[in-house]
Amino acid sequence: MKVIASYNIKGGVGKTAASVNLAFAAAASGRRTLLWDLDPQGASSYYFRVKPKVRGGGRALLGKGTELGRAIKASDWPRLDLIPADFSFRHLDLVLQEAKRPGKRLRKALAPLASEYDLVLLDCPPSVSLLSEGVMSVADRLLVPVIPTSLSLRAYRQLHRLCRDLELPEGLLAPFFSMVDRRRKLHREVAAQFSGRHRELLRSYIPYASVVEQMGPRRAPLLAFAPASEAGRAFRQLWEEVAARCEI
Ligand SMILES: Nc1ncnc2c1ncn2[C@@H]1O[C@H](COP(=O)(O)OP(=O)(O)OP(=O)(O)O)[C@@H](O)[C@H]1O
Ligand SMILES: [Mg+2]
Repeated sequence: MKVIASYNIKGGVGKTAASVNLAFAAAASGRRTLLWDLDPQGASSYYFRVKPKVRGGGRALLGKGTELGRAIKASDWPRLDLIPADFSFRHLDLVLQEAKRPGKRLRKALAPLASEYDLVLLDCPPSVSLLSEGVMSVADRLLVPVIPTSLSLRAYRQLHRLCRDLELPEGLLAPFFSMVDRRRKLHREVAAQFSGRHRELLRSYIPYASVVEQMGPRRAPLLAFAPASEAGRAFRQLWEEVAARCEI
């Protein structure tokens, strides 16, 4: 079982769009997939039409000696399950604070699922917190959507430094460009500058496309209703690249 987190310090960069579409693509290509919506906003749960409610809240999932399995819900798609968000997840840091090592607590919670899933995708909230530190230490890979703008690059550098400070393995970070508008000179310039400096950059990128926003009213991943769109093809390509790099 591989654990991949969709994470960025920055908000609104396409973490959830990547999580739901990669989860969909993984399940469609035969992987037993679990998407864990760790963001109290519950956007992933919303897109998959799963009620953002966990009985007992975050404490029931990550408190001492608790069981993750009972929070799992089936989605409308074969091989794709979800742990929905709960508004109490905003207090997950308090729960993790009680554990000596947040990463260890998360790892322990996920361990019993190892025989049931090929892939666990974590849709993370945008923050630097105990939860994100725990996620970083438990994930095999951090998938980081980066919009090609100066502030996004700055946030990526901060994340890079944080990984070094936490002594996490080289190669943990897998950034990709998100919401790319190739007509904008700034996007082209920033993208070229970044790819020159960061060899870990994935080659697939997600274009800016209004069809992605249709996921809201349709309450489904883009790959479920517009797989042949440019963005749909990009998400599929991203999945294939991630699957190859992470050997899923
Ligand atoms: N490639 C894209 N093209 C156009 N719009 C997009 C694209 N990707 C995401 N969006 C839209 O941008 C908004 C933010 O995307 P998303 O929710 O995936 O980001 P996020 O990083 O998960 O945000 P948050 O930090 O709030 O969790 C959403 O309204 C989404 O529909
Ligand atoms: Mg999100």
